Amino acid sequence: MKLRMIFKFGVTVIVVVAVIIYFLIETKNESRKTHNNINLDKLAKDEYRGDVGNNKPHAVVQNDHVVQNLNNKHAETVDKTSEIHSKNENNNDNDANYINPKEKAVNDNNKQKGSNYKAEKTNEFRIKPVFSSTDQMKVGSIHLSVVACGDRFEETVIVLKSAVLLTSSHLQFHIFCEKDIQFKFKDQLEFWPEKYRSKIDYCIYDITFPPGENREEWKTLFKPCASQRMFIPDLLTEVDSLLYVDTDVLFLSPIEEIYSFFSKFNATQLAALAPEHEDRATGWYNRFARHPYYGLLGVNSGVMLMNLTRIRQSNWLHDLIEYYKQYKLQITWGDQDLINIYFHYHPQELFIYPCEWNYRPDHCMYMSVCKGIDEHGVYLLHGSRRVMHNEKQPAFKAVYKAFLDHKFSSTIEYGLLIHLKRLLKDTMATNCGKLAPIFTKQLEKYCENVERKLNN
Ligand SMILES: *[C@@H]1O[C@H](CO)[C@@H](O)[C@H](O)[C@H]1NC(C)=O
Ligand SMILES: *[C@@H]1O[C@H](CO)[C@@H](O)[C@H](O)[C@H]1NC(C)=O
Repeated sequence: MKLRMIFKFGVTVIVVVAVIIYFLIETKNESRKTHNNINLDKLAKDEYRGDVGNNKPHAVVQNDHVVQNLNNKHAETVDKTSEIHSKNENNNDNDANYINPKEKAVNDNNKQKGSNYKAEKTNEFRIKPVFSSTDQMKVGSIHLSVVACGDRFEETVIVLKSAVLLTSSHLQFHIFCEKDIQFKFKDQLEFWPEKYRSKIDYCIYDITFPPGENREEWKTLFKPCASQRMFIPDLLTEVDSLLYVDTDVLFLSPIEEIYSFFSKFNATQLAALAPEHEDRATGWYNRFARHPYYGLLGVNSGVMLMNLTRIRQSNWLHDLIEYYKQYKLQITWGDQDLINIYFHYHPQELFIYPCEWNYRPDHCMYMSVCKGIDEHGVYLLHGSRRVMHNEKQPAFKAVYKAFLDHKFSSTIEYGLLIHLKRLLKDTMATNCGKLAPIFTKQLEKYCENVERKLNN
């Protein structure tokens, strides 16, 4: 009798406990689901809100997508990165200068710690790609890096395409981007025909901050997308040097040509850039900047050769962060301004190549101000302020369209050059379009030197 009572009581207790546990798990799942829905909503909204430029990035929250083939260490990085994203979402999204007041106090206390940066760098760290086509990067490859945020996916594919079309070298791509487009890059690159696919390897990474004791501080100071480039030397620790380009750039000449500037560096130079302007009357920095900048008219950061080995040996990141703290209220163009401040104080570390290597609307929209342009034509075209897509500079849009339309299976001469010439004809009434031959000069040279020889 007593035994039966105890048994009945026991069964009841077990059932009740089971029911409670079931409900607890259910409600937890529910709240996770609503959380996810919010994120999806957010994502959809972000897709409609065009970003202003590379300097004003999107922050997309994707806490729950942890890619599977990662080891634990990397999974941790992913978590922390999404944490940054959400933090920045909560802050004012368009204000790159925003600092959480609570954390500012902590930062100020940590200020002295910056000096430990050099020592800390010796800790071996290698960022794990989310996708990569190779375990072993080929010796002698040309390394090309892009940071693709917001709605820059298509544009980024086209810059990579323009790089592979004209090169005779093996290319190693380093693509930093948000989770939602990582697999799209992989699919695109894998889809390239063998002739071009065999010329490239790729690594696709999360937007990441390097580890180290200042990591928390960086997270509060910088928006991950806009500042990613500054951290590349400390993330790609196995890479000696690379070319960094903004996503709105196109290669009109083989990438080997700009890469060859590395061999012209003297003992102190660790990076190369082109001037921001050629003409004092239209310069931005000389007229408006309220912070130090490089040289007379500043430098543009859209096409940057970086000797990562030398940058790692320098005080680059530590100094950039100090300048940021000092000048954050004066900064307009994000990391480009910081880079200008850096080279203002370290001019011996910068190699300057001429405007043909970073040709922008500013060089032709009023009058032609880039001196060497008639002789050489454009080597690298940079469609800043979205001119590859809007109607403001039809000549730039025409070049972009020609690369977009080009089929891998056709030749450069018939598939690209002739089509481009036709498109440029319709832009002759504009100031940049008037200079049409500068946009085709390097392609013509390529066809004469390379393609025709190959075909004969
Ligand atoms: C970068 O600098 C390092 C150290 O000075 C040097 O060994 C290396 O050859 C340089 N890389 C290139 C591509 O010039
Ligand atoms: C390298 O060139 C830069 C720029 O011209 C110059 O300021 C610097 O002094 C040079 N360094 C050496 C070691 O010659």
